[in-house]
Amino acid sequence: MVTGKVISVNGPIVKASGLARIKMFDIAEVGPHRLIGEVIRLAGGVTVIQVYEDNTGLKPGDEVVSSCRPLSVLLGPGLIANIYDGIQRPLVGISEVCGSYIEKGIKLPALDMEKRWAFSPLVTAGAALRGGCVLGEIRESPLVVHRVLLPPGVSGTLTGIAAAGEYTIDEEIYTLDTATGTYTGKLAGYWPVRSPRPFRLKKKPFIPLMTGQRVIDTFFPIARGGTAAIPGGFGTGKTMTQHALAKWCNADIIVYIGCGERGNEMTDVLTEFPNLIDERNGRPLIERTVMIANTSNMPVPAREVSIYTGVTIAEFYRDMGYSVAVMADSTSRWAEALRELSSRLGDMPAEEGFPPYLATRLAEFYERAGLVETLSGHDGDITIIGAVSPPGGDFSEPVTQHTSRFVRCFWALDKILADARHYPSISWTDSYTEYLHDIEAWWRTLDSQWLSLRNEVMNILLDDHRLQQLVKLVGTDALPQTQQFVLFAAEMIKNAFLQQNSFDPIDKYCSPEKQLKLLKTFLTLYRKGSQLVHAGVSLKEIKALDVMSELVRLKSEVPNQDTARIDEYGKRLATELDSLKELLTGV
Ligand SMILES: Nc1ncnc2c1ncn2[C@@H]1O[C@H](COP(=O)(O)OP(=O)(O)OP(=O)(O)O)[C@@H](O)[C@H]1O
Ligand SMILES: [Mg+2]
Repeated sequence: MVTGKVISVNGPIVKASGLARIKMFDIAEVGPHRLIGEVIRLAGGVTVIQVYEDNTGLKPGDEVVSSCRPLSVLLGPGLIANIYDGIQRPLVGISEVCGSYIEKGIKLPALDMEKRWAFSPLVTAGAALRGGCVLGEIRESPLVVHRVLLPPGVSGTLTGIAAAGEYTIDEEIYTLDTATGTYTGKLAGYWPVRSPRPFRLKKKPFIPLMTGQRVIDTFFPIARGGTAAIPGGFGTGKTMTQHALAKWCNADIIVYIGCGERGNEMTDVLTEFPNLIDERNGRPLIERTVMIANTSNMPVPAREVSIYTGVTIAEFYRDMGYSVAVMADSTSRWAEALRELSSRLGDMPAEEGFPPYLATRLAEFYERAGLVETLSGHDGDITIIGAVSPPGGDFSEPVTQHTSRFVRCFWALDKILADARHYPSISWTDSYTEYLHDIEAWWRTLDSQWLSLRNEVMNILLDDHRLQQLVKLVGTDALPQTQQFVLFAAEMIKNAFLQQNSFDPIDKYCSPEKQLKLLKTFLTLYRKGSQLVHAGVSLKEIKALDVMSELVRLKSEVPNQDTARIDEYGKRLATELDSLKELLTGV
C-alpha cells in the first residue's frame, strides 16, 4: 500500500504526489471517502488520477492510497442478469443500501460473495493444464452454463480440485503446481479492464448474427464476430434498433452498455427486460444479459471506462465458447467523455476538440470483436454494435468518420425515413455491409439462390432511387408504365418488407425462413408484373388485384411458425397475375 497527497483538483482529474511505485492504470483511492480513481498519467513525481465518482468537496492535502493493482473487473458466476455502473458496481445492491443516489465511496462487491454455486469438476488431479482450459461447470442461469476457466497465463499440474458441490466465489476450488510455486484458484478472479483477454487465433466470421430485423438480416447482414455502427441523428431510432437487437439477436450472451444516454431510456431497459420472454426458448431475456448503465447524469470518467468494462465481460464469456453481442449506446457520448477529460488534462485538441488519440481508441475498442479460437480450442465470438449520434445528423463529423473506418457494417439511419415514420429508418442507399460473402454459405443452406435473390430485390430499390430523381422533375405520370411499375414494386418492398414495427407482437421479430419467403413473394410480383407491363397490361390492373392489399399485411399477420401461409399466398399471387396475361392473350 502506498500513500500520497492531493495537490490539485480539476473536475474529475486529480493530481497527487508521493505515490511511489504506482503504475499506469493502477487504482488509487482518493480523499476521506476513498473514491475510486485510476492512474492515467505519471510525470516527474506527479500522479494524474481520473476519479470515477462524484468528488465534490475533495481538496489539496487530502490523502490518496493505492495498493498498486490495476483497475480490474471481477469475473465469475453471477454476472448474468446483473446491472453495473461503469466501474462494475452493482446498481441493484447500491440502491438497496442507499436508495436512488449513489453514496460517495460506497464499495460493494461486483458479485454475490455469499451465494453458493453448484460446481461440477471436469478435470481430475494430476492433469497437466494450461491457461484458458475448462476446469468445471456451474449453471449460472437457466440459459447459461458457466465454464470455470483456468486464468490465462497460468499453467502447471493440477494437485487438487473440489468435489462436486456448492461453493461461494471466495472459496478455494483448485490448486496447481506451477513453475513458480503453488497456485490456488477460486470460482472468480480479477482481470485488468484495459487489457484484452488472450485467445489462440482470430478467424474469419461466417455465421450471420440473426437479428430478426429484415433490413439488417437480408440487406445489410452482420456476421457473428463482426462490427457494426448505427449512426443517426437525434430521434432516428438508434436506441430502438439496439434494443431490438438485444432482444432478438441469436447471440448466447448480450452485454448492453448504456453509455451517456438518458436515464429514463436505461430505466426502460431495466424494467422491460426482466419481463420479456424469448420466443425461441420461452425464458426471460434477462437470463442471458449483462447490463452496464452509465447514464448522462453519472460521472463522466466512469462513462469512458464503461465500454472497457463491458467488453472485458464479453471476452470472459467468449472464452467459455459463447457467442456474445455487445451493444454500446452511444459511442458518441463515450467520445465526448474522452474529449472532456483530455481537455482537462490540457492535451492538444485535434478535430472538433476531440483528442488526437480518438481514432486509436475507437479502433482498439472495435478490435476486441471477432470470432476466435479460444485458449481451450473452442470457438467463441464477440460482435460489437455501436450507436453513433453525430450532432445535427452530420455524418462527416470525426466520431462517425473514424468509426466508419473500423467497422465492416454501417447501418445509416435516415432522418427523412424517420420523419415519415418508416422504421427501422436504416437507409438502403447509404448503408453497407462487407459480410455478404462471408455469410452467404450459411444462407445457402436455406436457399442456394439467396444472394442473387437478395441482390435482385436490392436492384429494384436502387432503380427506384434513380427514378425518384426523375419523378421530382417530371412527376410519376410522365414516366412509362414499365418505370411506374418499378416504383410500385419498390413501394411494396418498402412498406411490406423494409418497414418493421418493433411494437407489433408478430412483426417485431422475423425469422430467416419468413424473410426468405417474403423476399421470394416480391420477386414473383416483380418478375411476373414486369412481363405483364411489357406485354401491355396496365399498372392499374395489377394494382387492382385482390391479392395486392394482402401483401402489405403478411409481415404482421403470418407468425414465424406458420410461413407455409406465405407460400400459399405466393401461389395465389402468381395465379392472379397469370390470369391478367390470359385476359391479354385472350386464352
Ligand atoms: N423499429 C421501430 N419501430 C417502431 N417505432 C420506432 C422504431 N424505431 C424508432 N421508433 C420510434 O422512434 C422513436 C425514437 O427512437 P429512439 O429513441 O430509438 O431514437 P434515438 O436515435 O436513440 O434518439 P436519441 O438521439 O434521442 O438517442 C421511438 O420512441 C419510437 O417511437
Ligand atoms: Mg437513443
